[in-house]
Amino acid sequence: MSNRTDPNLPDLTGTVALITGASGGIGAGIASRFSASGAAVVLHYRRGREAAEDLADQLRADGGQAVTLGADLTDDAACHALMRQATDWQGRLDTLVDNAGIQPVLPLPQMTADAWRHMLDADLTSAVSCTQAAARVMAGAGGGAVVHIASIEGTHPAAGHAHYAAAKAALIMHARVAALEYGPAGIRVNAVSPGLIHRPGIEQAWPEGVRRWQAAAPLRRLGRAEDVGDACVFLASPLAGWITGHNLVVDGGVTTHPTW
Ligand SMILES: NC(=O)c1ccc[n+]([C@@H]2O[C@H](COP(=O)([O-])OP(=O)(O)OC[C@H]3O[C@@H](n4cnc5c(N)ncnc54)[C@H](OP(=O)(O)O)[C@@H]3O)[C@@H](O)[C@H]2O)c1
Repeated sequence: MSNRTDPNLPDLTGTVALITGASGGIGAGIASRFSASGAAVVLHYRRGREAAEDLADQLRADGGQAVTLGADLTDDAACHALMRQATDWQGRLDTLVDNAGIQPVLPLPQMTADAWRHMLDADLTSAVSCTQAAARVMAGAGGGAVVHIASIEGTHPAAGHAHYAAAKAALIMHARVAALEYGPAGIRVNAVSPGLIHRPGIEQAWPEGVRRWQAAAPLRRLGRAEDVGDACVFLASPLAGWITGHNLVVDGGVTTHPTW
């Protein structure tokens, strides 16, 4: 019997998807779309246990299956423990979405080696460790799918984000190398690069940025967390069975502009 609640999505009933950073805005949107596709979802959080548990309650109330697990993913051992716990839940792990990350702004003159390293630990090494741990499980089960949440800043830099852009660019390249190495084991690895995604209060906090984005985006709106989620569900599904090493840009068309 199918657990899918949105007939427009591919049917992922019987699979398990782990979404890191599901206590945050985009992670919650990704988890909701996996749940609507019928997948059982593991909602990872670091400090936001309450947010993750509220989301799990909501998904279960809608007929889905959800569990929460906490970990600081800057700790390699914690990444491996998270994959073990996630796999133990239903005896399988089909999809990993590496979404957890931080986005502080810090211009280069103020950059410190510690700030640079912390960014790379949080946004890059965490995903590398999680992928390695998940791939061990997936390889033993005949395959799976990994999706890294990168950013358009991985290809289109923004001032104050040298550390962030470098981490996301490396993540996009990691997806390609991991696709190469893990492909023979049936594991597909792709990246999704979102543009500006709406979060509550962004119009008040950054009115000028929102206006600029809306004017520049051919589709004339900010993204929704669910737009990112739909791209992840597609990449995890059999519809993308021959797609690996790809970077899927989800940005309302902003990066289509000529830069000259
Ligand atoms: N927002 C955008 O417009 C945008 C655009 C492009 C790409 N992205 C990317 O999308 C992803 C999610 O962004 P968001 O806007 O949803 O951010 P957010 O609301 O701040 O959520 C970030 C998530 O990452 C988790 N996290 C942060 N550091 C962690 C660590 N050391 N260990 C484990 N978990 C950690 C947080 O956990 P806790 O809160 O539980 O501590 C939270 O769940 C990020 O990778 C970001 O770079 C965002």
